[in-house]
Amino acid sequence: MEAMIFESHAHYDDEQFEEDRTELLNSMQENGIGTIINVGATFQSCTEVVQLAQEYPFIYAAVGVHPDEVGILDEERFAYLREQCKKDKVVAVGEIGLDYYWDNESHGIQKKWFQRQLELAREFNLPVIIHSRDAAKDTLDIMKAENAEEIGGVIHCFSYSLEMAKEYLNMGFYLGIGGVVTFNNGRKLKEVVEYMPLDRIVLETDCPYLSPVPNRGKRNSSLNLPYVAEAIGQIKGISPEEVIKITNQNARNLYRL
Ligand code: NI
Repeated sequence: MEAMIFESHAHYDDEQFEEDRTELLNSMQENGIGTIINVGATFQSCTEVVQLAQEYPFIYAAVGVHPDEVGILDEERFAYLREQCKKDKVVAVGEIGLDYYWDNESHGIQKKWFQRQLELAREFNLPVIIHSRDAAKDTLDIMKAENAEEIGGVIHCFSYSLEMAKEYLNMGFYLGIGGVVTFNNGRKLKEVVEYMPLDRIVLETDCPYLSPVPNRGKRNSSLNLPYVAEAIGQIKGISPEEVIKITNQNARNLYRL
């Protein structure tokens, strides 16, 4: 049997899927999408991701609050996240990190909850899904201080330099590669993909965001992942099928499935 695609980062609880979520998710397996990690972003989504994982056998959940959303966290809500981490099919803590591009919350608040959620991952022996935008140095500093190489995980939608990629690869992290690798202005990411070992790449959409070419600008879904596999295959000089097979195994190792 041909290897199926492992979608390592999606947000199917998002309201952009309100109209056709059931139909879309029911069409995944027949279109070659074998496994999906649905990732928490808002505090509310940390309830929804667990529900979706309970409804669909091929969907797993990550529980965590995105840096843009951490202002809502307090000890009581954090205790709720801890309870969610104990649920069946929760395979990671994420997405967590720092976002100085949107700068929705103060850097102090972002750092505090990033650290706390890294500790949560350590407590439950779960890998982390890292979101980091325009915050390369602070993210790396915190991860080193927290010995994140012992926790493991993925830098989702990797957007930094080759030098930074080497730092994370040396810590044993995977890099999530998505639609940006198909963009004409995605040269920096193409360099990273060219350099990095194949066994550290995982495929992701971050849907509903970041559709690859030729669907750039439209709502994204895991059904667009063949375009990402194709672009990676071109850079690496291998077939899309090989990319799919290897990244499937990588994601299984990452999420311990
Ligand atoms: Ni995301």
